[in-house]
Amino acid sequence: MTANTDTAAHTDIDWSTLGFTYIRTDQRFIAHWKDGAWDAGTLTTDNTLHIAEGSTALHYGQQCFEGLKAYRAKDGSVNLFRPDMNAARMQRSCDRLLMPEVPTEMFIEACRQVVAANLRFLPPYGTGGSLYLRPFVIGVGDNIGVRTAPEFIFSVFCVPVGPYFKGGLSPVNFIVSDYDRAAPNGTGAAKVGGNYAASLLPNKEAHDRGFGDCIYLDPETHTKIEEVGAANFFAITRDGTFVTPKSPSILASITRQSLLTLAHDRLGLKVHEGDVFIRDLDQFVEAGACGTAAVITPIGGIQYKDDFHVFHSETEVGPVTRRLYDELTGVQFGEVDAPEGWIV
Ligand code: COI
Repeated sequence: MTANTDTAAHTDIDWSTLGFTYIRTDQRFIAHWKDGAWDAGTLTTDNTLHIAEGSTALHYGQQCFEGLKAYRAKDGSVNLFRPDMNAARMQRSCDRLLMPEVPTEMFIEACRQVVAANLRFLPPYGTGGSLYLRPFVIGVGDNIGVRTAPEFIFSVFCVPVGPYFKGGLSPVNFIVSDYDRAAPNGTGAAKVGGNYAASLLPNKEAHDRGFGDCIYLDPETHTKIEEVGAANFFAITRDGTFVTPKSPSILASITRQSLLTLAHDRLGLKVHEGDVFIRDLDQFVEAGACGTAAVITPIGGIQYKDDFHVFHSETEVGPVTRRLYDELTGVQFGEVDAPEGWIV
């Protein structure tokens, strides 16, 4: 996006204390699908939706969402990080739930409009904050049966955010959950609300026991790591390989995909997507959670049954994790060259 000179516009937000909480911003994009087509959509200041009581989104979970960020770059321009990847993932989620796809151009244009209309909420360069965009599609309209909705809404709103986990780039401890996140051929790979609704109780139980969130194992054998709360898992082996789970039921994070590329191409690491057995934690010298919201959150330790396994340290960030973080955020904030097509 082009540089905007309106950096003088400001709010009373204290950028240094931003966390991951809702802040109402000025404008959001909303489009409607009816009779087989999306309308052009519009920006609105109204942050509420007025929808039919029978909307499938309310009863049958027919909805999906995305998360991506806009960054104020070092040169003053505004960077959207790989929005085409989010558009493609939302199309897969829509396919899975029998909802109409939002075309990539429409998705990116909506994100562009929302960022441009809320520039005063974009955290300044150097604060570490960003503008989190939340696109979503919901089934709406009069209905009662379990079937796809007659109408849909696509909307994008934004919220200025800081770190997802308190403390930013500092280690967080996690506990392995007894709950399953996704069924083997279920909706684990789709970014649909039902997956997250099911995670609320395990997340609360993990918090109550003093952990940042929980780790989900594969539902079939309960032997392999799949996800870390609402983020993906990665680890660094003793020989310096970047390892991350391969599974049809994880939500393929765009951050994870980007780290696989950066670890290999920029850091010269070997990379491996495959099974990560919970019994093999001592093969790893560092571990982390990654995602748009979590960025890279180092994992201090993992509680599994009666054992607490510490990786690098419960208080210090491991050296490879730090290099990955610096490279990733360097690309996002325009401090280092981005791979072709990553920044819009
Ligand atoms: C994201 O990283 O965008 C996520 O989806 C996590 C979110 C549910 C808070």
